[in-house]
Amino acid sequence: MLGIIELGIQYRTWRSKAAKGKKSPRSAPSTPLAKMAKQLNEESISLESVMAEFKLSNTTLRRMMSHMSDNMDRGLESGLERSTIAMLPSFVPELPNGKERGKFVAMDLGGTNLRVMLMELEPGEPMRTKQFNTRMPNAAMHGTGEKLFDYIAKALCDFLIERELAEECLPVGFTFSYPCDQTGLRSATLLRWTKGVTATGCVGEDVVQLLEDAIKRDGRVKVNIVALINDTVGTMVAAAYEAGGHCDIGVIIGTGTNASYMESSKKIVHGLANATEEYNHKTMIIDTEWGGFGDNGEADYIFTRYDKIVDSKSDHPGVNSLDKLIAGMCMGELVRLVLERLCENKVLFNGIGSKMLRTRNTFPTKYISEILHDDCGVYSNTRQIMDELGIEGATFSDMLLLREVCVVVSRRSANLAAAAIACVLNRVRRPNMLVAIDGSTYKYHPFFNHWVCEKIRELLDPGLDFKIVQTGDGSGRGAALIAAIVSRVKREEEKRLRDLEIQRQKAAEAEEKRLLEIEAEKEEAEERARKISEMMRYQIERGAEESHQRFE
Ligand code: BGC
Repeated sequence: MLGIIELGIQYRTWRSKAAKGKKSPRSAPSTPLAKMAKQLNEESISLESVMAEFKLSNTTLRRMMSHMSDNMDRGLESGLERSTIAMLPSFVPELPNGKERGKFVAMDLGGTNLRVMLMELEPGEPMRTKQFNTRMPNAAMHGTGEKLFDYIAKALCDFLIERELAEECLPVGFTFSYPCDQTGLRSATLLRWTKGVTATGCVGEDVVQLLEDAIKRDGRVKVNIVALINDTVGTMVAAAYEAGGHCDIGVIIGTGTNASYMESSKKIVHGLANATEEYNHKTMIIDTEWGGFGDNGEADYIFTRYDKIVDSKSDHPGVNSLDKLIAGMCMGELVRLVLERLCENKVLFNGIGSKMLRTRNTFPTKYISEILHDDCGVYSNTRQIMDELGIEGATFSDMLLLREVCVVVSRRSANLAAAAIACVLNRVRRPNMLVAIDGSTYKYHPFFNHWVCEKIRELLDPGLDFKIVQTGDGSGRGAALIAAIVSRVKREEEKRLRDLEIQRQKAAEAEEKRLLEIEAEKEEAEERARKISEMMRYQIERGAEESHQRFE
């Protein structure tokens, strides 16, 4: 990668060589590289001042981690009343242990895609899956809630009918990647929409009920919705299945960002206070909803002027602040705003740019990954994107600067994601922790994974260690696996109750036998006592008779 810094070094090397050759810099040969480097040097002040806003020191990141951790404690204790990190209960008690078996369905509604999946599990055998993916139409995401859920129900019904499973009443796990106040495995109230969805009539409603109503309206299939989960919970569970039952954190860095981890039930005070079902397990996966961090202004020291613009123009201003700083929903727009400003200041594109560059949301986040995928010195993706943006006459230096802006903005996002992950790892504190990560922003960016790993290492408490695995389709597979865990736990619970009943019956029989024996012993003792007293009476009477006779 030939960045500004390398360019500066080349330029300085060239200048020192020129000086050794006793040539004045003024009379330097006007090669394209020299011209460009000179121009960059002159412009670097304003470029650097813009870029400096996005740089975060480890001190700042540690400050943020400490604020996040405080919020997590408060979230567990009192929920959103005293914290911006909700720490929502998932009611998922454990990770898969390989004994799950049966046929399960997963539905996964995340950012813009809907996935329906059928999964068959048999212990010791590889899982078999069939799936159907579709892009959610804008009309469904921004219309009425009824329309949205009708669309989801139709996709599920079509899928099951095609596979002749309409009548089997299969267990369904539903991944719904928006913050929900969960009071049971299958009861969850939508707290708010994120990631730009605005469907009406859903916030404050029970999402499982909305889906069941829509399935009933469709009327073509019978299913049993057994669990509603967040995508991070699904990711954690899917990764654990692959890793033989162990995973410490599930993270999504896609359109939005979030993480889940296993927490001791004793600490989940707020989440369990309103539970509608008894929860007798020692642990539970917690959906942190860390995307809300900053909603009370506690992360203002991180926000740049560009973040503030993005937030104020978003569908939900002031909501899910960390989501907007880290995830793909806003990253492209941030880059566009920086480019627009650099262009206005004549640092970029000769001060001209294009109408599209000045228009909101014309720079999707995938452009960042595409630009950074260009090999050193080859600018094919970058050129094509500039064509798409209608930018004409861009120079080599424009392309370098464009790349640099993408690096700086996305690196900040990676650093913030790393700080959030390190914060959770520092709380989990287990040996060799496994972090499962999924999501388009993380997956398609060529350096994100590397940057995140590097920064976590710098921020993690000494003595702790971790490994990152990338999971594909974790949220979908996780939903089916959770349906399977629920069935297994239910099977195990039924067996436990059956065993308890057998034990109770055996104990009752033993008790009855004991009581009968006691009764028999009592009767025997009474009989003995009766006989003894009879004997004694007889002897007394005989004694009396004998002495009577003696006196006579
Ligand atoms: C949502 C989370 C979700 C995350 C990743 C966020 O916007 O609030 O619930 O897990 O995106 O999809």
